[in-house]
Amino acid sequence: MCGIVGYLGSKKAYPILVKGLKRLEYRGYDSAGVALLNGNGIEIYKKEGKVVQMESIVPAEDSLATLGIGHTRWATHGAPSDRNSHPHYSQSKRIAIIHNGIIENYASIKEGLSKRGYTFQSDTDTEVLVNLIEDILIHADVSLAEAVRVALNQVVGAYAIAVIEEGNPDQIVVAKKGSPLVIGVGEGEYFIASDATPFIEYTKQAVYLNEEEVALISLEKGLEIRTIANELKRPYVQELAIEIESIEKGGYDHFMLKEINEQPKSIFDTLRGRLLVNQGTIRLGSLDEYEQKFLTADRIIIVACGTSWHAGLVAEYLIEDLTRIPVEVEYASEFRYRNPIITEKDIVIAVSQSGETADTLSAIKLAKAKGATIFGICNVVGSSIAREAHVGAYTHAGPEIGVASTKAFTAQVTVFITMALSLGRKRGTISEQEFRRLILELDTLPKKVEETLKLDAQSKKIAAAYKDVPNCLFLGRGINFPVALEGALKLKEISYIHAEGYPAAEMKHGPIALIDEDMPTVVIATKTEHYEKVVSNIQEIKARDGKIIAIVNEGDVDVTRIADHVIEVPEVDERLSPLLTTIPLQLISYHIAVMRGCHVDQPRNLAKSVTVE
Ligand code: AGP
Ligand code: GLU
Repeated sequence: MCGIVGYLGSKKAYPILVKGLKRLEYRGYDSAGVALLNGNGIEIYKKEGKVVQMESIVPAEDSLATLGIGHTRWATHGAPSDRNSHPHYSQSKRIAIIHNGIIENYASIKEGLSKRGYTFQSDTDTEVLVNLIEDILIHADVSLAEAVRVALNQVVGAYAIAVIEEGNPDQIVVAKKGSPLVIGVGEGEYFIASDATPFIEYTKQAVYLNEEEVALISLEKGLEIRTIANELKRPYVQELAIEIESIEKGGYDHFMLKEINEQPKSIFDTLRGRLLVNQGTIRLGSLDEYEQKFLTADRIIIVACGTSWHAGLVAEYLIEDLTRIPVEVEYASEFRYRNPIITEKDIVIAVSQSGETADTLSAIKLAKAKGATIFGICNVVGSSIAREAHVGAYTHAGPEIGVASTKAFTAQVTVFITMALSLGRKRGTISEQEFRRLILELDTLPKKVEETLKLDAQSKKIAAAYKDVPNCLFLGRGINFPVALEGALKLKEISYIHAEGYPAAEMKHGPIALIDEDMPTVVIATKTEHYEKVVSNIQEIKARDGKIIAIVNEGDVDVTRIADHVIEVPEVDERLSPLLTTIPLQLISYHIAVMRGCHVDQPRNLAKSVTVE
């Protein structure tokens, strides 16, 4: 999901590739590499780490090639390392590939290729694809473009790929499905990239490939585009009217807003290959591998910090409700120092977007030393926490650049939903009928998140009304209590307004003393068994001149009648509702922070990953 670049023309390719990869660095990555086609064949230079580290291994004479491809990797299959970096050769080194995305069925393809004598130098899904293409190229004796097209008909997953072939200095074959790829059309030269930033200074003429399209790029033949079903398509060349800086953020003003809006895709990607609705099941490989440990566990302890801790609290409601396994949620920083009682019968789940949070890493090292089974839920493949855990499940949210976590939170909750459903079915604590109903509803979530994102204008209006308040309360009940905590954290960390989250019923035990006309309260009041009680909580606040911003379900009447502002989210099973109720809270906090002139993506005093105690 990171960065691809390519060049074919009369200039030296290498400097264009390096500059292009650096333009894509904002997308976050763990390694970089280039493949250059010079007189003697394809030369690959690749390295874990930053682009500058890759530059140090490229010999000067190889920077003369006029055809090349480059890649910054965000690992999904195979930890970050030199050998797992892209580009990847095919077995004979006749072709080389770079790839953004996930080949879901790489294991079965790899098995077939291994039986035909192929061996692999990396753990990646990408290297399987390049050998599939080679296998077709050799045995079907077809062109590279045709071999790519045929291969992609066997692939399940997402890809933006570029492939080059030795002895063929006038062609790059590219293809796209589910990951971005754009072709820059210059004067006697072509560029390819994940977005236009690497080539916009050379040309503003661009062709955006559509889903499941393959393009042959050649100086002599021009641009030929076909669908993977072999239908010839006319290239639609458009004039880019955007400036470089706006593209890096995908046209959004801030990474945080871009990442909030990426949530339909990040939830879909996190479910990809796991939620198998047509087969009526959920496949969480790591859970299956440790099934007995989970089915016989005395309890599950979740350790995390910040937003990830809030995802753990949501998980407590989910797992206990659906599996009846006792769950404890701990701040990692407290857990590691309080001499906790841990046994071999415990499962400890570490939740961490960065996979590098010092307190969380130390907490699981302690638990591991005491014999617990460690399960990691991280967004960065090969991160320290991922490597320390016995087993885990990655959130495939893609790089999260904004310090305030948004898409990682909903991706973490998504993993927990699949875990709780899968475990509940295995333990028989939810019926087959309930399981099937919930997975069907889970399948609709990316679409419902997309609908919820349309509440941005309303959220912005509410933000304008409350951008100058000194304090704010967030209330929720049940599984939406942690969402209230998360909403409070979002507001305080990016707008510097003091905010606190509470269980709605807790108001009478102190916080209601804070209520007056200057204290707004955000209440999550979606349709649940607690709804009537939440209405009462709201009335208690209104009776003391408090202002209410309520998150309700579409068509709500009772709360809408008494609240000062309502935001209506689509109705969904309460256990899945955090994926929707958190969205307006993210948007309101984002807009308040922008209106207050705060540095939204890098709030004061905060780091994206707290790797120190
Ligand atoms: C959340 O918006 C903050 N950036 C912070 O609380 C973060 O969730 C916490 O530092 C944990 O980070 P991790 O998920 O990378 O472990
Ligand atoms: N799935 C491929 C890998 O893990 C590509 C990852 C990416 O999009 O950078 O190498």
